[in-house]
Amino acid sequence: MKSGSEEQLAIEGGRPVRQTLLPYGHESIDEDDISAVVDVLRSDWITTGPRVAEFEEAFARRVGARHAVSFSSGTAALHAAAHSAGLKPGDEAITTPMTFCATANCVLYQGAKPVFADVFSDTLNIDPEQIRARITEKTKAIIPVDYAGHPADLDQILELADEKGLVVIEDACHALGARYKGRDIGGICDMTVFSFHPVKHITTGEGGMVCTDDDQLAEGLRHFRNHGIEGDARQRQAKGQWYYEMVELGFNYRLTDIGCVLGLSQLKKLDQNLARRREIAARYNSELKDLPGMVLPSTRPEAMPAWHLYPIRFDLSSFRVGRSEIFAALRTENIGVNVHYIPVHAHPFYRQRFGYSGGEYPVAEAAYETLISLPMFHGMTDQDAKSVIDAVEKVFGHYAILTAKSPKSKGG
Ligand SMILES: Cc1ncc(COP(=O)(O)O)c(C=O)c1O
Repeated sequence: MKSGSEEQLAIEGGRPVRQTLLPYGHESIDEDDISAVVDVLRSDWITTGPRVAEFEEAFARRVGARHAVSFSSGTAALHAAAHSAGLKPGDEAITTPMTFCATANCVLYQGAKPVFADVFSDTLNIDPEQIRARITEKTKAIIPVDYAGHPADLDQILELADEKGLVVIEDACHALGARYKGRDIGGICDMTVFSFHPVKHITTGEGGMVCTDDDQLAEGLRHFRNHGIEGDARQRQAKGQWYYEMVELGFNYRLTDIGCVLGLSQLKKLDQNLARRREIAARYNSELKDLPGMVLPSTRPEAMPAWHLYPIRFDLSSFRVGRSEIFAALRTENIGVNVHYIPVHAHPFYRQRFGYSGGEYPVAEAAYETLISLPMFHGMTDQDAKSVIDAVEKVFGHYAILTAKSPKSKGG
């Protein structure tokens, strides 16, 4: 067999490693999911009905939290958490630049200011010492993100929050099913936010959840998702009552019975989905680790990641080209790579609003230069995973400056 470096790249006219594009993420929907949704469509309740509480209770049990409050998206869930943390104009909340913009946007929705703190170079999770350096009298909350599904340094962050009297909202949109020091993500911080977007570990189409052990926070979250109205429309209807009170300004952020029944059905498969993602990550880890110049995602001993993403990086000095050429070559091999993330402060909106010009968060910015997310989803077959490994070996081998051969060619 030819070694990876001898094969002609698809981008230069060669045969692609696979014939169809493998996306970086994808939902899995089976017949049980479909028939559960069809049953709800045939029932009396398609919006906020009995399935909402059922899904919330099952979810809270699974992650070890007292309450789970569902929302129409992870973004809506973050907004509600920022509101319930009491964020208001004049306040600040500290978060990571290495995330999807929704994490920081939720602070802006409340009229408060997101302040970024740089990340560790191994996990790309927010560094508690960098948080400490940015705490002021205005700081009210810390919003760590479990990047790619690897839990942030929650104990240090919670200690710091305790010392300074801050609320911790964990953005665990990547981390459903992850564990930290033997505990499930979901019951550790003041509030923990999840997303059920189709590329996540389970899906409701669009959807999100906030978990908390605090009864008062849970009540506030429930008001906020329903226009700021107290009580439950279904209970009022059952009791023949019409009167309700709007006690604060809220939104319509409700998740439907259609979404919740899908969530219930998907939740049954969470453990098998996680096991499959861990299997794929282990295969990538073992088969890509010897590629010269490759930097694989690292796992700290206290963490059991949920592998929402599998982000690789590479040593720029080992290659003749940069990320855009490697990215384009992998895409042309039909590997649907992606980039997570453009650091939030580098987006035009944030640059214009806050005056960032680059260089403020050197670790996140340097990581971004070479980040590439390989396909990672529980529906991937062994053949899919092999095609990713073959394509990475082919492309990295082709562009490598080092004379060392790929592990495959070393083996003969
Ligand atoms: C870290 C993070 N936070 C928040 C969100 C927003 O979730 P949603 O797409 O459900 O609104 C996402 C979405 O991908 C995310 O990756």
